[in-house]
Amino acid sequence: MNQEESLNVSSEKHLLAQELPGPEPRNQVGRRSFLRGLGIVGATLLPASAIMMRSAKAQEKTSGRLTKGDADLLRFAAWAEIVESDLWTQYNELGGATKPNDGAPNVGNPAYILALQNLDGDMPQYISDNTDDELSHAAFLNAYLISKGAEPVNLDRFRNLPGSRATGADPNKVHKRLTNLLRLNVDLSWYTRYRSEDNPDLGAFIKGPFNILNEPGIPLDDMDTPPDMAQPNPPTTRTSRRMQAIANTAGFHFAFIEQGGSSLYPTLALKATSEEVLRILLSIGGVEIDHFSLWHDKAGNAVSGSLARLTDPETGVTFPDLNAVTPAAALELTQTNKIQPEPCDFIRTDLPPCSVIRPTSTHLGGAVATVKSFTDDLLFAGQSNEFFEFAMQLATAADNARRQL
Ligand SMILES: [Fe+2]
Ligand SMILES: [Fe+2]
Repeated sequence: MNQEESLNVSSEKHLLAQELPGPEPRNQVGRRSFLRGLGIVGATLLPASAIMMRSAKAQEKTSGRLTKGDADLLRFAAWAEIVESDLWTQYNELGGATKPNDGAPNVGNPAYILALQNLDGDMPQYISDNTDDELSHAAFLNAYLISKGAEPVNLDRFRNLPGSRATGADPNKVHKRLTNLLRLNVDLSWYTRYRSEDNPDLGAFIKGPFNILNEPGIPLDDMDTPPDMAQPNPPTTRTSRRMQAIANTAGFHFAFIEQGGSSLYPTLALKATSEEVLRILLSIGGVEIDHFSLWHDKAGNAVSGSLARLTDPETGVTFPDLNAVTPAAALELTQTNKIQPEPCDFIRTDLPPCSVIRPTSTHLGGAVATVKSFTDDLLFAGQSNEFFEFAMQLATAADNARRQL
């Protein structure tokens, strides 16, 4: 055994020794016995009902079952991830580089892919990777819920919305989508919010820099946007301008969706009881923030340089030049390469500004707020009352969860 191997074996032994119960190291016995003693003394001072409640709670935690609150938090997270998976799968079929789970290359919609690549040459790969992440989040959360004897979330009965008929979209899913990307209202307040020193959690009202209303995020069909056309930057024909406006909308929509996840997960995490559930919420939430940061950068390329000032000939939506804003002081809230969060008010206005995710209040960033913002986005246009009732039921339960210590 060489020196490196012997080091590995000894560090493995060290890990095993930490995980397996055994005789306590001599220097810790005194302290632990002392704490145990305190526990007994403390317990004898409590009424019997309190002792029983305490031991029931301890059992709940150690037996591996989730508290109702933790299950509600994870169930809403699973709902959100299934929704994300559906919309990202649609984007991936048309604009991604690979099939989900890093499968064979995607044919996609060539003109849509070229329009997306006018924002960044790597867009197809980023779209595929984001899709994989969402599918993994949804599958993991449901599997974890099942492993804990809790009910998972299934939205298959709601997969009946129309999808794209354009080249690249799965022809078997024309009426089998859970989310609707054919006409979006994209809330752009996040763009200003992360450049502003104000925080909506402390009462600030923040508007986006322009409006994207009634604009598709994906090509609708091959008549509207021919799949094999050239897509120069800037686009020169009516149909290529239309396709570029659709790709630009996708770029902003990606960031809108992921900033929602960036706020949702810390909001949920604040209510978690089990350390493992907290770990899940923080770890998945971190990836949502990673996605948001990436898309924030790409969206800026639609409103700067040669692509800026494009108008969709069909809807009239215009993507302005956000680096050509006057007066100069106003540029602070629009400059396209300012993609990292500016410090803002946090907790209280008498404290110094702090660079943070915002909002993280239940009211603005929680589960019900997420359902509402996705609904305002028209992501669920055409869904049944049962869909909204089920979404609000899961969301209300998650928002009402409380940390139990
Ligand atoms: Fe996700
Ligand atoms: Fe996400």
